[in-house]
Amino acid sequence: MTRILYPEQLEQAAAILQSGGVVAFPTETVYGLGADGINPVAVQKIYRAKNRPASDPLILHLERPLDFAAVADLRGREALLERLAPLMPGALTLVLPKLPHIPLEVTAGGSSVAVRVPAHPLAQALIAAVGVPLAAPSANLFSRPSPTSAQMVLEDLDGRIDAVLDGGSCPIGLESTVLSLLGAPTLLRPGGVVLEQIEACIGEVLLPYETLSEQHIQPAPGMLLKHYSPRAQMLLVSTPKLLLEVGARYQEQRLGLLLPSQSLEHVKHLRAERFDLGADDLSIAMRLFAGLRALDALGCTHILAHKFTNRGLGRALNDRLYRAASGKVIG
Ligand code: TXA
Ligand code: MG
Repeated sequence: MTRILYPEQLEQAAAILQSGGVVAFPTETVYGLGADGINPVAVQKIYRAKNRPASDPLILHLERPLDFAAVADLRGREALLERLAPLMPGALTLVLPKLPHIPLEVTAGGSSVAVRVPAHPLAQALIAAVGVPLAAPSANLFSRPSPTSAQMVLEDLDGRIDAVLDGGSCPIGLESTVLSLLGAPTLLRPGGVVLEQIEACIGEVLLPYETLSEQHIQPAPGMLLKHYSPRAQMLLVSTPKLLLEVGARYQEQRLGLLLPSQSLEHVKHLRAERFDLGADDLSIAMRLFAGLRALDALGCTHILAHKFTNRGLGRALNDRLYRAASGKVIG
């Protein structure tokens, strides 16, 4: 039985976590599936609940950036962290050398640890109430789209976790940006804090994932190509110009359109289910995963979407769509 808890029941959520249970909670990016990040037995429950492969490391969620020093070795990186300070708390995850007491279950056996300070007030209050770092991946079954509401968490994990803390919808709707500081700053996953913001703080960032993903190589542990997948087959076109032509080929199928308002205008005559992502990048990001799940729920066999301009949040949108399409782009 999975309990649904509301913000006024935060102490109950904290007590479950303190006794080694797993609780899903809202962050500004997506819902996380939390467990005591210092307790290996609790952390193992996360992997079991999600069907997540043990090779995929977790992010530790902390109350304040100052707390990074309690889990990671910051020596030699103080100046860099200082310059990144304006972006934290927020949708930025840093990969740093781990300290010895961090369980290998969190880091998937590796010597580095990912850390983040979420900006969501409920997430911060929960971490403070538990009093330990919370290990938390996105609260979905492995390879499914991340959940941006408590309802979406329950779709995947009802009966598999102790509780979900319902804090409404996540305002960003895409996962955090993962930046490795092990060597020269390197982007491992584009996300809610955009590359341009990071580069404004620390200068040029390396982008191995973009060239690597084109070659179907796994750039970082857990960055599998097939990810964020709906059940339907994704048809990802490189530009809105191709929507009509590709959509027309699937008129005998149950087609879903996952598109911004302005693009839906161009495909008025297609027979399809429609999910309007809204008009601007903020709205598109917030609604993307909900749209994938909604079109699945309508029984669509194919979902048609297009790529975005590779700047700002567009970079993360493209990454998630590309993975949902298992790396196939039409045109
Ligand atoms: O916004 C988010 O980041 C959400 C919320 C809940 O905080 N969490 C999230 O966790 O998306 P997850 O587990 O779904 O994705 C974490 C990513 C994975 O791609 C993983 O490979 C990477 O972070 N990661 C974690 N630890 C790492 C490490 N030590 N080295 C390299 N990558 C790491
Ligand atoms: Mg995930």
